[in-house]
Amino acid sequence: MTPLELEAAAARAFAAEYGEPAEVAARAPGRVELLGNHTDYNGGLVLAAAVDRYTAVVGRARPGREGRVYAANFEGSARFPLADITRGAVGTWPNYVKGVAWAMQEALGAELTQGFEIAVAGEVPLGAGLSSSASLQASVAFFLLQAGVAPGKTIDEYVGEHSDAARMDLAMVLRRSENAFVGVSSGLLDQFSSLFGREDHALFLDCQSLEFARVPLGSPGPAIVVCDSKTSRRLADGMYNRRFAECNAVVDHFKAKRGDDVKLLRDVSLAELEADWDALDPTCRKRARHVLTENERVRRGVAALRAGDLAGFGKLISASHASSRDDFENSSPALDALVEAAEESPGFLGGKLSGAGWAGCTVNLVEADKADAFAEAVRRGYFERQNLEPEVHVCRAAEGASSRPLEA
Ligand code: GLA
Repeated sequence: MTPLELEAAAARAFAAEYGEPAEVAARAPGRVELLGNHTDYNGGLVLAAAVDRYTAVVGRARPGREGRVYAANFEGSARFPLADITRGAVGTWPNYVKGVAWAMQEALGAELTQGFEIAVAGEVPLGAGLSSSASLQASVAFFLLQAGVAPGKTIDEYVGEHSDAARMDLAMVLRRSENAFVGVSSGLLDQFSSLFGREDHALFLDCQSLEFARVPLGSPGPAIVVCDSKTSRRLADGMYNRRFAECNAVVDHFKAKRGDDVKLLRDVSLAELEADWDALDPTCRKRARHVLTENERVRRGVAALRAGDLAGFGKLISASHASSRDDFENSSPALDALVEAAEESPGFLGGKLSGAGWAGCTVNLVEADKADAFAEAVRRGYFERQNLEPEVHVCRAAEGASSRPLEA
């Protein structure tokens, strides 16, 4: 589906639900994590790409102090008062919409200027590691800006060459929404990627200094092939926050030793970790080693891309998967099988799990002209190993969030 077809689907759902046409449309992409797995909340380095799979939000401002949302994918709706936005049951989708309204009001220190009604349609696979949640957040935020509902902010600040500073502020507001409202201790990777995407570019971010860069993947760029293992990570919910705690246990060790300038794992070097190896908890030290070696792989990955060395870049991606599997232990038999099937498929340059892990997707860098043959071979190889059909998405690195008025 093209983004315009997706917006049209959302617009039809809007008209059916609310009986009137939508007035503005916004969309934002999902993302893959190319390198830098679980580094973001540790103040580390990431290399990601927005991909051409979107969530679309259409709607209009309406008088009154209520937010209304209809989600076409779930055929479900929610309503909430803007004056008192409270979280619903854990893990339910309206929290992501409410959380954006909540965090924008918090950050701006003022209420949204009006109520709103929206319909959402998405094609980012859910719970699969492509951050459908950040694409929903970013598209809702762009809707609110485009509809003129956000107090004291206009959409113009978020568009064009000079919009990066405003987008970075927005990424942090959306992260706060996920941390403080939805209740997941995630870092900035997902929101940053959905807002900063650029066609055929990877996105580098230093999560401590917020320095970032859009790094060309080459022209034409390689295919980014996402393979969905069709295993769900619901069983592993809670594991993410546990890893967050394990990383922080190592931070606490170095804080006790070196003082308060150690705030995040980023403030600890690999050499220091190795020097204190025997004094550290055997599980937590492996988690930290993964994070610190990932930072290094991101540095080398950026250099490889800048040198046009896609083969070298691919090898770093595969090394990242091995480190996730062995040290961070956030892979699974299904994800490992998908990576093994990819390794023996045509055009393969590198592959790893993407996002939180434990289930969901792998991301593979593949020579563009071999992407279809690759997809076919992975389907076969994974089925042979797991007796499951994967879903394969051949993607390109894509533009970040955008919005526009709709014609009457
Ligand atoms: C999830 C989180 C991100 C990041 C990744 C792992 O996708 O939302 O913030 O921590 O996991 O790198």
